[in-house]
Amino acid sequence: MSLVPVENGIPAEPPALEPRATSSIAGALEAWFPEAARELPWRTRRSGYHALVSEAMLQQTQVARVVDSFLRFVARFPTVESLAEADEQDVLALWQGLGYYRRARNLHAAARMVCDEFDGEVPGRADLLLKLPGVGRYTAGAIASIVNGERAPIVDGNVARVLSRLARFPGRPGERAFDRWCWSQSEAMVLSASDPGVLNEAMMELGATVCTKHSPACDRCPASAHCRAAVAGDPQEFPTPKPPPARKVVHHHALLLTRTHRNRSEVFLQQRPDEGLWARMWQPPTLETDRRLSLSELGTRWKVDPRSMDRSLEFTHRTSHRDVCFHVHVTSSRPGVELSGRWHPAGSLGEIPLANPHARMIRDLAGGS
Ligand code: ADE
Repeated sequence: MSLVPVENGIPAEPPALEPRATSSIAGALEAWFPEAARELPWRTRRSGYHALVSEAMLQQTQVARVVDSFLRFVARFPTVESLAEADEQDVLALWQGLGYYRRARNLHAAARMVCDEFDGEVPGRADLLLKLPGVGRYTAGAIASIVNGERAPIVDGNVARVLSRLARFPGRPGERAFDRWCWSQSEAMVLSASDPGVLNEAMMELGATVCTKHSPACDRCPASAHCRAAVAGDPQEFPTPKPPPARKVVHHHALLLTRTHRNRSEVFLQQRPDEGLWARMWQPPTLETDRRLSLSELGTRWKVDPRSMDRSLEFTHRTSHRDVCFHVHVTSSRPGVELSGRWHPAGSLGEIPLANPHARMIRDLAGGS
């Protein structure tokens, strides 16, 4: 099968799926989903609030890593009111392990808006859901279709991959023409569905479990007979991969101060600034630079004898756009500079918001848990 005519790498006319194919694909996916669906806690009891929490967690994190966090979160905050009334520090502490903490702050703000402006009911319509902080077109479409049966389309990385293979359209995610095409195909699909929520979840599920990036299992795909890439035998070629984002390298030099107080081990922590990476979360005192500092430079900055400091742990933490190189120093000397912050028991780290790398260094070097 040949590709559609291409100009400058982009097909002159994006290949729309034929209406008959669209409706056959939607039907096949809807029939497949009830048998193939993984049992996930947000699927057992559908509610706007559970959908809001699970979709926020799933925005940048894979299902397997979300399940336990979701259960812990809704056990602690069982209703949208309880979340709206919670302290932000408790919400962030419960988000620990999931990363991308802006999602937790947005979810907290969304719960407050639901209580203040929507009478405590998570809206069922995509246009209203879009007013909530952190809710974009995908999340609004997912919640409105799954909870309320609205014919709202969804496109994320999984769905874009499925659509691009079905039509054998070699676009690149993130490019306007390709993204617009995906939304229009998803809309055509949801318009022809019997149950828009089932279709949308089936597309997510297919992308996550069958039509995967590196090893598509066309033999297990309910839509393979209608899939141009499966028929041509080259699904891995679609879509064209995104170029990797430009990455910045930064160095975080952490000073791990410990003490034993009333028979328990404590660690000294400071709160991060209100804005930026890991905003308002806690960490050992840290110097951030764009190059690695020597022990003697650190000794001067912290007013600590460099001979009493050890680089005890070094690792790199990758965020979406940054490589954060951590250099962790343990010392028993007290620094000569005044440090604002507080001592915290190393044995109860779950009570305060700590990003993964900080939790890791305290656990490994100060016996925290
Ligand atoms: N990814 C995003 N939303 C999802 C959902 N509701 N179920 C499974 N995976 C998802």
